[in-house]
Amino acid sequence: MAIKKVSSLPAASVLHETRVFHPSPEFSRRAHISSFSQYRKMYEESIKSPEKFWDRQARAELTWFKPWKKVLDWKVPNAKWFVGGQLNVSYNCLDVHLSTDRANKAALIWEGEPCGPGKPPEQRVFTYRQLHREVCLFANVLKKLGLKKGDRVLIYLPMIPEAAIAMLACTRLGLVHSVVFGGFSAQSVADRVFDSQAKIIITADGGFRRGSVVQLKKNVDEGLTLRSASGECLTSSIHRVIVVRRAGCDVAFNPQIDVWWHDEMETASPRCEAVKLDSEHPLFILYTSGSTGKPKGILHTTGGYLLTAKMTSKYVFDLRDSDVYWCTADVGWVTGHSYVVYGPLANGATSLMYEGAPNFPNFDRFWSIVERHNVSVLYTAPTAIRAFMKWGVQWPGKHDLSSLRLLGSVGEPINPEAWMWYHEVIGGKRCPIVDTWWQTETGGIMITPLPGATPTKPGTATLPFFGVLPEVVDETGEKVPKETSGKLIIRKPWPGMLRGIWGDPKRFMETYWSEVKGSYFTGDGCRQDKEGNFWIVGRIDDVLNVAGHRIGTAEVEGALVSNKNVAEAAVVGRPDELKGQALVAFVTLKTGIKPTPQLKEELRNHVGKEIGPVAKPDDIRFADMLPKTRSGKIMRRLLKQVASGGEIKGDTTTLEDLSVLASLTAAED
Ligand code: WT7
Repeated sequence: MAIKKVSSLPAASVLHETRVFHPSPEFSRRAHISSFSQYRKMYEESIKSPEKFWDRQARAELTWFKPWKKVLDWKVPNAKWFVGGQLNVSYNCLDVHLSTDRANKAALIWEGEPCGPGKPPEQRVFTYRQLHREVCLFANVLKKLGLKKGDRVLIYLPMIPEAAIAMLACTRLGLVHSVVFGGFSAQSVADRVFDSQAKIIITADGGFRRGSVVQLKKNVDEGLTLRSASGECLTSSIHRVIVVRRAGCDVAFNPQIDVWWHDEMETASPRCEAVKLDSEHPLFILYTSGSTGKPKGILHTTGGYLLTAKMTSKYVFDLRDSDVYWCTADVGWVTGHSYVVYGPLANGATSLMYEGAPNFPNFDRFWSIVERHNVSVLYTAPTAIRAFMKWGVQWPGKHDLSSLRLLGSVGEPINPEAWMWYHEVIGGKRCPIVDTWWQTETGGIMITPLPGATPTKPGTATLPFFGVLPEVVDETGEKVPKETSGKLIIRKPWPGMLRGIWGDPKRFMETYWSEVKGSYFTGDGCRQDKEGNFWIVGRIDDVLNVAGHRIGTAEVEGALVSNKNVAEAAVVGRPDELKGQALVAFVTLKTGIKPTPQLKEELRNHVGKEIGPVAKPDDIRFADMLPKTRSGKIMRRLLKQVASGGEIKGDTTTLEDLSVLASLTAAED
């Protein structure tokens, strides 16, 4: 595979002369990091003497069974952190709290979607002791099913406590989990099983979403029948499916493979030692979209990842024991891994988990949860904030939000209007906002304000976290001056960094470490302002960010051309007021196939089936040809312009003639 060079850099965006928000003295006084100079001092040490800094942090923050011999072993692109050290993630998230006053504190507060009209939402609370018990029970279930250290386990669950219990039980035994978002299809499940060679799938009969049931078990059953193009069974590694009873819907049950979660738990023992694992033992694989081909399995390991998750949670969300902390992400994404489960629990915090949508049964669902549970820290995505803005201030206005003290944003650039609305309407002008930039690959937050220390401006994630050395560079890898756009890279290794792409070291090297030699390439465009704040411009590779979900254009194109009617497809993003970006697919059809509105719908559903509903194109436009360069490359820049408003013909179901455009811009070759 050829190295894919990023050709177009984002145009320098217009500078907003925005207001600066300084941390309030009341907030700073009680914060973990209480002044900008304290942040600077710690940051400088973390960059100048990283080994000394991380050595001290790893000792202070985590409980180790065996100390490490070396803090970092680094040879591009392979990093080993805390070499020779041994620890266990579930031990650090649970057992360490049992001998403290946190033992009977709520670790997890779960609220489900109401199971029917007029019914109250279900709630379950687990103290640290109770969660520990459940995790030990389930770890013994996994053991009994014959799983061994290093085996892979696929988790395909709704947002229910069993998802966190399953993840923690895996880490207790050194099993490597791979969580697949419930919004992905049977095909996606099968592809991930095939790539990871997982032995077990943990799923549920169904999950609730806006009042209807998402049939997860049915998808798994379908996934188990799927074959590759060459006829190979994709899921032959699977020998058991563990099914949680959640939705109460009918499911097919094959006693040869399927077991019920509750049956197995009934006979399991509640005692289970945490296995001593090497610091670099694989912790999880999380599949994420890239600019080429199928999603790649991002690998994270034990010690460094946990240190990053714990420290960023502590300092960015300024966690303390009195907090009720709510990150609204699904555990199917990395945010759910690091900031619903591992980060907050490693800090002994109370983490709230919610199953449903923000607008079901009504538009005030989030604010009702904040009020009833006295949420003090809320972490959500700009897409959600923009939707709340659209729904109107009357919905948050119905609730007492005075328990909130800190707000976070993640997943995409937050536009200043949304930032201000979040600040004023939700935060009552008193809560600092932390706009946190990071990626599946980085394991944890990389660029962010610290709420008691960093002055913020709406729209910038501000400054790097400890140990993170970001730089904005040009095509040749040279640092560009302030106020100039370029590519965002990270110069130094950090503990939470990905350790590879599962089974594909070549792609790992090519994707992340070859764009600028020796540095990590993020795929994002960025600009620094005069004060050094980083303004993320968005992806500059062929990855789109739709409603905070990362979608590879190549993957959607692959799904489209796998339909019998499609000859060629090119997928690009166009700006969308609510979702940040929307997916637009340009499609040419095979000879004799007529472009009809029905076919559009069929193609959208086809993508939904191949990848999942999240990847369905917002718009499909039929064309008689795609504009290409002389060497045959699709001119995406051109298609982006067309998609963003350069309407060519009124009726979008007729063929668009893009050939003229192609000849006009042939210089792009
Ligand atoms: C991409 C990573 C990080 C967890 C959720 C997404 C974009 C993320 C921000 C932010 C501007 C952001 C970037 C990044 N992104 N956070 N605060 N400001 N852009 O993880 O699916 O791996 O996506 O999301 O483009 O590369 P992901």
